[in-house]
Amino acid sequence: MQFDTIILGAGAAGLMCAAHCGGRALVVDHARAAGEKIRISGGGRCNFTNTGCEPANFLSENPHFAKSALARYTPWDFVSLVSEHGIAWHEKTLGQLFCDDSAKQIVAMLLDMIAQAGAELRLRCAIREVRHDGSRYHVSLDHDGRQVQATARSLVVATGGKSIPKMGATGLAYDIARQFGHHLTDIRPALVPFTFPDKQFAPLSGVAVPARARAANGPSFDEALLFTHRGLSGPSILQISSYWHEGEPVHLDLLPRTDAFAALKSARSEAGRRSLSRVLATLLPARLADAIAADLALPGNLADCSDAVLHQVAARLHDWQPLPQGTEGYRTAEVTLGGVSTDGLSSATMESKTRPGLYFIGECVDVTGWLGGYNFQWAWASAMAAAQAL
Ligand code: FDA
Repeated sequence: MQFDTIILGAGAAGLMCAAHCGGRALVVDHARAAGEKIRISGGGRCNFTNTGCEPANFLSENPHFAKSALARYTPWDFVSLVSEHGIAWHEKTLGQLFCDDSAKQIVAMLLDMIAQAGAELRLRCAIREVRHDGSRYHVSLDHDGRQVQATARSLVVATGGKSIPKMGATGLAYDIARQFGHHLTDIRPALVPFTFPDKQFAPLSGVAVPARARAANGPSFDEALLFTHRGLSGPSILQISSYWHEGEPVHLDLLPRTDAFAALKSARSEAGRRSLSRVLATLLPARLADAIAADLALPGNLADCSDAVLHQVAARLHDWQPLPQGTEGYRTAEVTLGGVSTDGLSSATMESKTRPGLYFIGECVDVTGWLGGYNFQWAWASAMAAAQAL
């Protein structure tokens, strides 16, 4: 089978590229259905972009790499596409755009587009071997027990990262990158909950609070924090997991919009006979207030607490520093941080600088977005950069 372009991976980036690249294109994937991560994303409604998308919302060893692609295909370009296809959408919070009805509409839109473009989609295809003979790429496929050979001038690798192996994620993109002499940056699970020893937060499981969270060397995020059976989760925690390194505590402000010392001091002068946990319960969910009061082990009423003690309590609320044991890993991580080094790729086209005709797009590249629609925007934008060059 001869093609102009073979695209490995029928996820967000692969489908978007196939819909726009023109020529004879083949898209192959080992999954039973295309765009499975799109389908389950955003709680089934797909947070397909973010109106505030900026290069600063992405992590990469080269923070400039994503600029060109992101500038040339913006969130509003994708919004136009979605609107043209009659998909209703809304902004939930913080610029995050979701489908009103279902993420399946985004998958259906992309599949319609690739059918219109005349691209061929082959699912349930195992990729056995990829090689280059000096002028064409050859891909050996195993399709329903049959060996199939496909060749093309260009090969686009869009097989994503390692997150959620149960959904078919593999490290294929990294293997192909290595095979063709590309470097990889360190990869690890990101946008992932933290685990703690001895299930210490299990009694608080289900408690959610607005919080300001920060890892040692990262920005802070004002979003919800959720206590789970295994540890800490919620958007603020997922965000900082991308900046966290093993052995470091995280910094959590449980009352980001309140001056805790001032609140405790005024409670002491107004009702000094109340216990600390009762006062904390006016500021935080009761179960969390009880746990913090028990943890601080302060005797007596508020009236017995000196200013120094109130400062100590306030510090616990504004800069709590729990030490995660680890993360839930690729099993639940929304993305893989790191990947194919951008050093070897053109930022304008995503093409290999050393292997003409070889492209890497989407999550497999060392460009990782924040939570909130940024990773899909990178998938669309990097796919378009490659598609326009193919
Ligand atoms: P993607 O993973 O989408 O596609 C890769 C494709 O390659 C898959 O179809 C896979 O089957 C195939 N493949 C892999 N290995 C293969 C092999 N060896 N052989 C053949 N095929 C192979 N982002 C966002 O912006 N907004 C959101 O709401 C969410 N929500 C979300 C929820 C959950 C639960 C997860 C896990 C992730 C998200 N994300 C997200 C992240 C987003 O899904 C992710 O960044 C993009 O899907 C990446 O697109 P890619 O096309 O690069 O990879």
